[in-house]
Amino acid sequence: MNGLAAARVVTCDPARPGALGVVEHGAVVVDGERIAYVGPRAGAPKDAVLLDVGERVVTPGLVDAHTHACWVGSRHAEYAVRMAGGDYRDIAKAGGGILSTQRAVAAATEEQLAEALAGRLARMASLGVTTVEVKSGYGLEADHERKQLCAIARVSARDGVPSVVATFLALHALPESARADRAAYVDRVARELVPEVARGKLASFVDAYVDATAFTVAEARAVGEAARAHGLGLRLHVGQFADVGGAELAASLGAASADHLEHVSPAGAEALARAGVAGVLLPVASFTLGQAPPPVGTLRSMGVRLVVASDANPGTAPTESLPLAMALAVRAYGLSPDEALLAATRDAAASLGLRDRGVLREGARADLVAWDLPHEQAIVQPWGVHRTHTVLIGGRARNGGAPTADGRA
Ligand code: NIG
Ligand code: FE
Repeated sequence: MNGLAAARVVTCDPARPGALGVVEHGAVVVDGERIAYVGPRAGAPKDAVLLDVGERVVTPGLVDAHTHACWVGSRHAEYAVRMAGGDYRDIAKAGGGILSTQRAVAAATEEQLAEALAGRLARMASLGVTTVEVKSGYGLEADHERKQLCAIARVSARDGVPSVVATFLALHALPESARADRAAYVDRVARELVPEVARGKLASFVDAYVDATAFTVAEARAVGEAARAHGLGLRLHVGQFADVGGAELAASLGAASADHLEHVSPAGAEALARAGVAGVLLPVASFTLGQAPPPVGTLRSMGVRLVVASDANPGTAPTESLPLAMALAVRAYGLSPDEALLAATRDAAASLGLRDRGVLREGARADLVAWDLPHEQAIVQPWGVHRTHTVLIGGRARNGGAPTADGRA
């Protein structure tokens, strides 16, 4: 058995006192993939070999619950146009945006997609992220959606990268080939692709982009009902640009999460809270698009469980950094640093149905981070720099092996 000892161990375990369940002068002992002990250092099993990280803080590994990290190509030219005043939705209507990444993904092999994703996941791990939800949705055509999901599955099987939760982003944009018959496209996705993805166990969740310039509530409902009927969970892009009733849809379908929420009414927020749908906040996207924040005060006061995620994608959130999203959630959305940490650990994991992650307790998966920082509140303070010292994924240091005395594998 080995593990870490630190001045502060932030467990995020609701069974411990305080919002974050902090243990001072604590230790976390790992046995294989699981945590065998969390508590005062003095009480740790005597045979455990502890790496003492000194005055640093240890937290659960971060959980990024919303990414589009499986893509190739570059949208730098579109970004320059947008920064010169071009509108994201006009560019999309003219065949850019999601459709430009679709063309790059269509031209790529499964191996190329897998390598691009693996590189991003490795960089995410270096930032303290140990579990990542990854959506398809840049294939759009059945064959390329399959290819994207197979690339995600291929990378999920690797050691030393964050563990992956796959989501079939079934309705993201209408491919050019479907413009003549939109209803047939949606019908095929609901009747053929969703069941096929479920049978092949290619994803745990299905997602749809419900917005004024994307898909309607009725279209997303057809796909959402198919997902539920085939035993898949549901996450929905809701209210990024306009409130078209996506939150109420997410609530009525028992979705695990409603994501974005820049535009949601108090009634929509209440529906989410009542149905126990998590609200996934994506502050990098609203920052990049120059949008006002979601009504966080309303969501919070209604009792919606808040999650913060990166939205990593080449268009609206060109980042791989969940710590950056957490920092923006504090600076721009008014979350407290403690709220931001829970929103990127325990509550993010719960929204993915993973109760053994995002929390340091005996029996949980040994995903943890020793930060090169003295306090958990410091995680949301330094802009744009790496601040991890040691990252364990399933008990192993992120480059393989057990933690060593200098904290690196
Ligand atoms: O979450 N809203 C739609 N999907 C992504 C953006 C995708 C893109 O521009 O490539 C988002 O913001
Ligand atoms: Fe997204």
